[in-house]
Amino acid sequence: MGSTGASQKQWVMNAFAMSSPGHVAAGLWRHPQNRSQEYLNLGYWIDLARILEEGKFNGLFIADMLGIYDVYQGPGNINPVLPGAAQFPISDPFPAIAAMAAVTTSLAFGITSSTTYEHPFALARRFSTLDHLTRGRVGWNIVTSYLESAAKNFGLDTQVPHDTRYAKAEEYLNVTYKLWEGSWRDDAVVQDPKTKQYTVPGRVRRIDHEGEWFKSAGPHTVEPSPQRTPFIFQAGTSSAGKVFATKHAEAMFLPGMEPHVTRKAADSIRKLAVEIGRNPDSIKLLAGIIIIVDETDEKAQAKYEEYLSYADDDGTLALFGGWYGVDISQWGDDEDFRFAPGFPGAVQGMLEAWSSTVPGGKNIKWTKSRIARELALGGPHAKAIGSPETVADILQHWIDEANIDGFNISYAISPGNFQDIIKYLFPELRRRGVFWDDYAVPGGTARENYSADGKGPRVRADHPASRFRWRAGEEVPEYAKGEVDSVK
Ligand SMILES: Cc1cc2nc3c(=O)[nH]c(=O)nc-3n(C[C@H](O)[C@H](O)[C@H](O)COP(=O)(O)O)c2cc1C
Repeated sequence: MGSTGASQKQWVMNAFAMSSPGHVAAGLWRHPQNRSQEYLNLGYWIDLARILEEGKFNGLFIADMLGIYDVYQGPGNINPVLPGAAQFPISDPFPAIAAMAAVTTSLAFGITSSTTYEHPFALARRFSTLDHLTRGRVGWNIVTSYLESAAKNFGLDTQVPHDTRYAKAEEYLNVTYKLWEGSWRDDAVVQDPKTKQYTVPGRVRRIDHEGEWFKSAGPHTVEPSPQRTPFIFQAGTSSAGKVFATKHAEAMFLPGMEPHVTRKAADSIRKLAVEIGRNPDSIKLLAGIIIIVDETDEKAQAKYEEYLSYADDDGTLALFGGWYGVDISQWGDDEDFRFAPGFPGAVQGMLEAWSSTVPGGKNIKWTKSRIARELALGGPHAKAIGSPETVADILQHWIDEANIDGFNISYAISPGNFQDIIKYLFPELRRRGVFWDDYAVPGGTARENYSADGKGPRVRADHPASRFRWRAGEEVPEYAKGEVDSVK
């Protein structure tokens, strides 16, 4: 495959991680070059952030879970994830961001946080604080959470039903938007020794939110931060999830192991965006991918095989159980899951896709161990393995065929795989004119980094949060006049 050079848009390249020894590579914590098991050591995060910024990655995006994957060999069996550290243990992703911010100036930080278990006031406060400390470089990956174990950790007998979680998330966002955009007037803080005013009375107001799920009086306790509303990521794939994401996301992670599948999701998001009055270009669409790159195809393939030798099958199948809600241990070891009765259609579609992309894949049996092998590194995302030219061609194919804006890149070993990308791949992408030499706004905010449209750090006019904005000179924000009381 040659380089088409057809698309000269600048790609978004995001590093994908987790505050855990094993994100989407169970067992790889044992690899001698992996440092992700140092996730409780600030030195690891500081090094990682420095490396990513030096290479000009757009951002570091940290996934998070509030429970344990206990479907496999279960229900309720917590043991399969333990040896391979399959997203367990896992710690709070927030605190390390401040340390990383101290040693960088432009790298953005995406932090995953759930709308299902924490009061919006507490989260809004934490994000505002961090938006100050990072000088506007935080993003929020909004999730509604999908683990039964998480619900139980927060005292529920079972999960809030799927679509109800999104309804709750909708109100949750209204509360946070009111706090971030509508509680402090843009010119509230003057810090003027002459008038002896830090903040001008009358320019801070309560939000007095009373809804179906939440009550919050306000005012927001943190003064206005550079972005106010953090840059918003989302990854909903269900009908309710897609509507929610299209409304609120500024960047979205799309599903699909093959570009033509992702294309369908991308097209439907853009169509939906137009229908609800958003500019489809204001939502960056990113595909998940793992990239193993080296000087030659052979060297990269050898690296991939070597990583695989550390993979932990039980850990991987436990992750599978959490992602798809299916305990695969109930089927026989030799069973071909493409034909297994009672298996979810979505997973069988995925297996069909794999079987067509793996050489000879149509004729092999897609057994448990084969599924574990395919998911071992990178999980249910695409793979790009090869020389810089090969990987660049694969990515270009994704950009063109799926019509996306960039990638969320996971690793087998960290920071090694990111260093390889910087060393081998980025020079090739720059030769092709598809990846920047420097940040769009060096020292700028996450929104200026990802949007790169020269429109500054605040949410764009087509974003629902902008309706809550309290502008200088307004006695009260528009929404409080009753014209817009919620995002419909
Ligand atoms: C790249 C990517 C990252 C995700 N990260 C998380 C995460 O860190 N925590 C989480 O609870 N869910 C995460 N999800 C799950 C999504 O938020 C979402 O629940 C999932 O895609 C299913 O969509 P639905 O909620 O509309 O059914 C992620 C999904 C993708 C594709």
